[in-house]
Amino acid sequence: MEKKLEFPENFFWGAATSAHQVEGGTRNNWSEWEKENAEKLAEKAKTYWQEWQKEKFPEMLDPQNYISGRACDHYNLYEKDFDIVKDLGHNVHRFSIEWSQIEPFEGKFDEKEIEHYRSVVNALKQRNIEPFVTLWHWTNPLWLEKIGGCESKKFPFYFSRYAKKIAEVFKDEVKFWITLNEPTSIIANSYTRGIWPPQKKSFWLTWKTYKIFAKAHIEAYKSIHSVSEKYKVGFANILHSFEPYRKESWLDKLSVFIAKYFTNRRMLNLTKGYNDFLTVQYYFHNRFKFPKKVRLDDKPVSDMNWEIYPHGIYRILRKLKEHNLPIYVTENGLADADDSRRARFIKDHLFWIHKAISEGADVKGYFYWSLLDNFEWDKGFWPRFGLVEVDYKTMERKIRHSALEYAKICKSNELEFD
Ligand code: BGC
Repeated sequence: MEKKLEFPENFFWGAATSAHQVEGGTRNNWSEWEKENAEKLAEKAKTYWQEWQKEKFPEMLDPQNYISGRACDHYNLYEKDFDIVKDLGHNVHRFSIEWSQIEPFEGKFDEKEIEHYRSVVNALKQRNIEPFVTLWHWTNPLWLEKIGGCESKKFPFYFSRYAKKIAEVFKDEVKFWITLNEPTSIIANSYTRGIWPPQKKSFWLTWKTYKIFAKAHIEAYKSIHSVSEKYKVGFANILHSFEPYRKESWLDKLSVFIAKYFTNRRMLNLTKGYNDFLTVQYYFHNRFKFPKKVRLDDKPVSDMNWEIYPHGIYRILRKLKEHNLPIYVTENGLADADDSRRARFIKDHLFWIHKAISEGADVKGYFYWSLLDNFEWDKGFWPRFGLVEVDYKTMERKIRHSALEYAKICKSNELEFD
């Protein structure tokens, strides 16, 4: 039997992108790292991925896959992309401003680049699409990287100065600000595992960068609010779902507790009192069998072999409800080149989000990751997350079937569910 689940009035429906992943032509700590590491990453792919993945995505063995280069040329094509956003019935769009373009030299803001983002925001406004602006989506200007990047004690000062500058520029046009995107992903991958730039595996830096990011968010929160009290400011938080593999094992339960603390709670605790809204970026479900995580073979997965576990978002939202703040799901998405699982994925997650709402979680919006296929960091271009397919040779855009299915939900504000 088909049921209709209605979402709250004025619910935000949209998708998200980030500058480095879609714009093309960016020059920052990542672009430099890509050039130095493309060969190594292509070599690593030979042993890292399974046979079916290598067969289906042979481009992962080509070093060129790991260079962001022109990306989706969204820097030039944003108007066309926003026409698609409009046609798909989105009423909000999340994108990031590339700090390295705005402040290519310390303290010197590039007016031409500011003008570019002014046009981007105007293009959204003209289409009645609410802009959600992320100020930092993982990339640093090169001058900042030279003095220590995210490890530098000065990071909070420089970041909040840039945040204030941008907040002043968009005083009347932008209401929603996301300071940092997923600081814990950078902490975990750059400093705990040491696989992302600057590839420094260190317990001390892991510890220290939590504090630096928390301070950067708090300082930016204050500086943005010093421009206008009306702004709504938060940070984009990755939240994983966890469970003990053996329900009775205290060691498995302890592992879950520790992992939950560092992944889901620590940044929230450190920034308490400085968030006007909370966010959820949900991709992962983890099962702990001490001392490791285990994977179950019979579960549905994405092209990247990430388990699809929609129920996890409900568990996360139920917990976040305790904070009594509005919540936005600022990212949730799937690498699915054939587009055979994406529509179901979106509907299943929305089903659980709706259930959380009906139990009191104040969820006010959902952003699918991502609007376009794009550059997936150290994995390069082969994972296809987009509602819209991108041909990287011609830059042609093709709207996927799942995008149309999602558009029905966005336009009707309800989910038809069987
Ligand atoms: C990041 C995106 C990334 C996505 C898929 C999120 O953690 O914010 O930049 O592309 O996950 O991996």
